[in-house]
Amino acid sequence: MKKILITGGAGFIGSHVVRLFVNKYPDYQIVNLDKLTYAGNLANLKDIENKPNYTFIKGDIVDGGFINELFAQHKFNGVIHLAAESHVDRSISNPLEFVMTNVIGTVNLLNASKAYWFQHHNNEKTPIDFRFYHVSTDEVYGTLGETGMFTETTAYDPHSPYSASKASSDHFVRAYHDTFGLNTVISNCSNNYGSYHFPEKLIPLSIYNIKNSKPIPVYGKGENIRDWLFVEDHARAIDVIFHNAKTGTTYNIGGHNEWTNIDLIRLLCKIMDKKLNREEGESAKLITFVKDRAGHDLRYAIDSSKLQNELGWTPSLQFEEGLEKTVEWFLSNDEWLDNVTSGDYKKYYQEQYVKR
Ligand code: NAD
Ligand code: DAU
Repeated sequence: MKKILITGGAGFIGSHVVRLFVNKYPDYQIVNLDKLTYAGNLANLKDIENKPNYTFIKGDIVDGGFINELFAQHKFNGVIHLAAESHVDRSISNPLEFVMTNVIGTVNLLNASKAYWFQHHNNEKTPIDFRFYHVSTDEVYGTLGETGMFTETTAYDPHSPYSASKASSDHFVRAYHDTFGLNTVISNCSNNYGSYHFPEKLIPLSIYNIKNSKPIPVYGKGENIRDWLFVEDHARAIDVIFHNAKTGTTYNIGGHNEWTNIDLIRLLCKIMDKKLNREEGESAKLITFVKDRAGHDLRYAIDSSKLQNELGWTPSLQFEEGLEKTVEWFLSNDEWLDNVTSGDYKKYYQEQYVKR
């Protein structure tokens, strides 16, 4: 029996990680801790919410007292930490929120983990099994030119308040390993896409706008390059790394799948035309070039050969197939999309979980 704390489990990637662990490991207790910010939505987990090995707790990782109490109440064997402010554009409007959750929140979890691990490690005949897994991003490495890829040894060079806050949290995780001996592991992943993706990010926002015949905002000239990975492949990688990585290690996760934003949007328009029975080229008329994002990184590309060679993980889906699957999911989950865009899901779910 293992008890795993997953933070940010009501968000996009977190909900896929929670679902995978709850279904794959019926003998684990999965505790999902989430503040339910605008990005957290318990509707993402409706299919597993009544499973006996799943518990949801509403709470804020910035509240250190609450985190310490939580660790005093539960005997966790591991933390998989995904809770974060995750949208670059929001970090440009409100950097402090990103410092609070991404940096202070992570340090609160590290402190509670360290205290808990010290106590049980020193007091019990059989030392407990404990691991802190920090889910991070390729954005900490900054930007690439036309060639090259990020490896695990690429120097950190963040440019946005979001990536600066994630870089800072990565440094704290390494410091707690090097200074206190905490069993930590970090992964840095490229752009994810798939079901339950919050429609402020490029792919789900574009699907929503195409569906509703609204303009598709493409920043600058659409020449920036991102390396896209199907979210369920990311969740599988987290499972493999959580269970098999050596302490203090880092793994890059990515799909070797680079697209300029404009080419991606054109492909998406083509898929949407087919699915919506529109004439080919109709959705592409919605493409609208808008003011560029400040400090916009030009290109990300992940070299995930360490993960592939050492732990045997490989992505399962080709991008065209994954994108088509994603479009189909959004088109057949109208209610989810409409509730999220109208904010209605908040009213229903917030009432069920009273804040401490
Ligand atoms: P998301 O914004 O969809 O979800 C974040 C979740 O964290 C939400 O459920 C939110 O309610 C919760 N949360 C936010 N602040 C909190 C707080 N103070 N206390 C408790 N919970 C809080 O994010 P996502 O896209 O699923 O990303 C999850 C993690 O993966 C993040 O750490 C992000 O940096 C990292 N990541 C994301 C991507 C990507 O493409 N989306 C790629 C690589 C890494
Ligand atoms: O690389 C991993 C990162 O990917 C994660 O760490 C972040 O949490 C996640 O949000 C994502 O960051 P990006 O900034 O790359 O994702 P976003 O979907 O916001 O933008 C993708 C690209 O599309 C980027 O070059 C900006 C551009 N864009 C975005 C939006 C929202 C547009 O052209 N128009 C848009 O409306």
